[in-house]
Amino acid sequence: MHNSIGLKLGSLTLDVPFFQASLSGYTDYAMRMLARRFGCPFTMADMMLAKSAANPRVLRKACFRPTADEHPVGAQILGRNPATMAKAASNLVTAGYDVIDLNFACPAPKVLRRGRGGALLNEPDIVIDSLKAVRDVVGGPVLMKLRIGVDHKPQSLHNFWKIVTRSIENGVDALIIHGRTVSERFRGKADWDLLAAVKSRFPDATIIGSGDIFDPAETLDLMKRTGLDGFVVARGAVGNPWIFRDLRCVWENRPIPPPPDLAEQRLVILEHFERILKDYPEKIAVRIFRKFFAGYVRRHPKRKPALLALMKAKTRAEVVTALNTWYTDTSLNA
Ligand SMILES: Cc1cc2nc3c(=O)[nH]c(=O)nc-3n(C[C@H](O)[C@H](O)[C@H](O)COP(=O)(O)O)c2cc1C
Repeated sequence: MHNSIGLKLGSLTLDVPFFQASLSGYTDYAMRMLARRFGCPFTMADMMLAKSAANPRVLRKACFRPTADEHPVGAQILGRNPATMAKAASNLVTAGYDVIDLNFACPAPKVLRRGRGGALLNEPDIVIDSLKAVRDVVGGPVLMKLRIGVDHKPQSLHNFWKIVTRSIENGVDALIIHGRTVSERFRGKADWDLLAAVKSRFPDATIIGSGDIFDPAETLDLMKRTGLDGFVVARGAVGNPWIFRDLRCVWENRPIPPPPDLAEQRLVILEHFERILKDYPEKIAVRIFRKFFAGYVRRHPKRKPALLALMKAKTRAEVVTALNTWYTDTSLNA
């Protein structure tokens, strides 16, 4: 029996109330497909600049288009010009994305300097005009990703509530809210109480929480305590596709299986690496894959030397050798 009815994103219904968040530089096709294989019902692609996605030539490149085997999949756009956001959204739907998500959350300094992402939380009119422009051209689900304000000043909180209220009035299908301010970046703990307050003020809206989802067993209590409709998994999925298998078990009232032993970890790490190698030249693939090592070795009993060996690898053969060295000694299994 399911613990919940799943999650409604407008016309799209997921059978479990979680999915993989956008993570710039991580959530490429390889990571999305691995998440899917481990039970994630829906994934978000890397954030794209609206200005680029508004150009149909850019979207003709295979790496920007979803493949037939990964539906449903969402695209996220970043921009501050409503007309450009709408053009980008329309192109992305034509390219095959099932869901459009508007990013008003990114705290990266280079994004904020250009008045995009999280900076727009202090410009509610641009946020709502962007939503309206996108809503006019996209028939399918339109989501918005927010943080709880630019900072903790009363005016920022006021702007946050204004954006939440007006976006629901203007037909957003779901809000994904990261429970930190932009200026907090990733410091401290996410404020799920404020997210719960959003849900209790707007019980009919779909409110999805984000922040510090690392422990599958705790998520059920979190959902019960906050009344939220769902949550996204972000850093907790980097080098850890098993989190989706375990979350599914929690939601389907099945026991969480034992953690993967080193042999299984090795196979999954190799599977991930092989998927990346299909999409990029070897040197770039190794560089991309390096970002995942810290996540994968978190389960290794000799984390530090294993990580050091993997980080030193510069070629496909060296990655495989490092994996064979550090992931085949069964005496290391817990
Ligand atoms: C490296 C990195 C890249 C991220 N990129 C995006 C992004 O492109 N779009 C987005 O909406 N959120 C992005 N996020 C935020 C996450 O989706 C998520 O909201 C945040 O990490 C909080 O969740 P967590 O504590 O479970 O990681 C990023 C986070 C990290 C750490």
